[in-house]
Amino acid sequence: MESVQLETPIRSIGVLTSGGDAPGMNACIRAVVRAGIGAGLKVYGIQDGYKGLINGDLVPLSRRDVSGILSQGGTFLRTARCKEMETPHGQREAVRQLHNENLDGLVVIGGDGSMAGALTLSEQGFPVVGIPGTIDNDVFGTDTCIGVDTALNTIMEAIDKIRDTASSHSRAFLVQTMGRDSGYLAVQSAIVSGAEMALIPEQPVSVEEIARIIENSYKQGKKHCIIVVAEGFPIPMEELTSQLDAMDLGFKARGTNLSYIQRGGSPTAFDRILASRMGYKAIEFITNGKFNVMTAIQEREIVGVPIPELVGKHREVSDEYMHISNVLSR
Ligand code: F6P
Repeated sequence: MESVQLETPIRSIGVLTSGGDAPGMNACIRAVVRAGIGAGLKVYGIQDGYKGLINGDLVPLSRRDVSGILSQGGTFLRTARCKEMETPHGQREAVRQLHNENLDGLVVIGGDGSMAGALTLSEQGFPVVGIPGTIDNDVFGTDTCIGVDTALNTIMEAIDKIRDTASSHSRAFLVQTMGRDSGYLAVQSAIVSGAEMALIPEQPVSVEEIARIIENSYKQGKKHCIIVVAEGFPIPMEELTSQLDAMDLGFKARGTNLSYIQRGGSPTAFDRILASRMGYKAIEFITNGKFNVMTAIQEREIVGVPIPELVGKHREVSDEYMHISNVLSR
């Protein structure tokens, strides 16, 4: 990267993180800063996502400014959900600030909402490169996103602990995972933690069906029953738990919402590598004059997916994973 010759007039770029934080965002910022400086660019950190962009909250970043952040969860640039960026006024102000600060390009690290924001900038003629960072794994065009692997590991450890108490008390436990409208985290964590069932928004089932699975687990002599509930499942986890607890199924029911612990923590080796590769690739795109794309991992390669082709679409949860989860849990 040191020897890359600039083929475009790009000299200064900004980098921001937007939407929900995800473990590995810091590793990605570090990669963007160091690869960017290595390629002869000036790199500015924009604080608080699009909100900071609109307000002009920028700081120049050196290689040393990103020392020691590789292993840290969260994002040292901070992040925000910015309603203003959804309005034509906010989008115009964002481009105005980018020009005011003499930036020639922008790297946006975030989920699908962040990519939608990036699209509005590119539609106004401003060069952007997106990097998918969200635990939800719902961004279209990429096999996975920065933060997903760490979140899965966090959920797995939590369910392993919940299983201890579930077995000790012979209970059914409903464990709620994040994911907004996607059941990805719930299905994957059901597989890795050996849960009896995953409840996902993509495949709603009735309370009676859930009760049947719990009762069958009891009849089969299991010591517990673990059900992973995606936050987007149509029946709220608390309501479901109290309905099931009131039934005579052998196991009494309890519920646990894992909530924000899923977004924190030191990124796994997988997420650090993914973040580093995507950050490096974003700079390669910029120095090669390739814009308005999102870095994506497809069959182990980091490729560029045009942002207009992915905004408004969602990565589907594979039926195969759901099937594997069901078969292995019996
Ligand atoms: O997109 C990440 C995510 O954690 C979703 O899983 C969840 O629905 C949402 O963000 C929560 O958003 P907030 O941090 O604004 O409460």
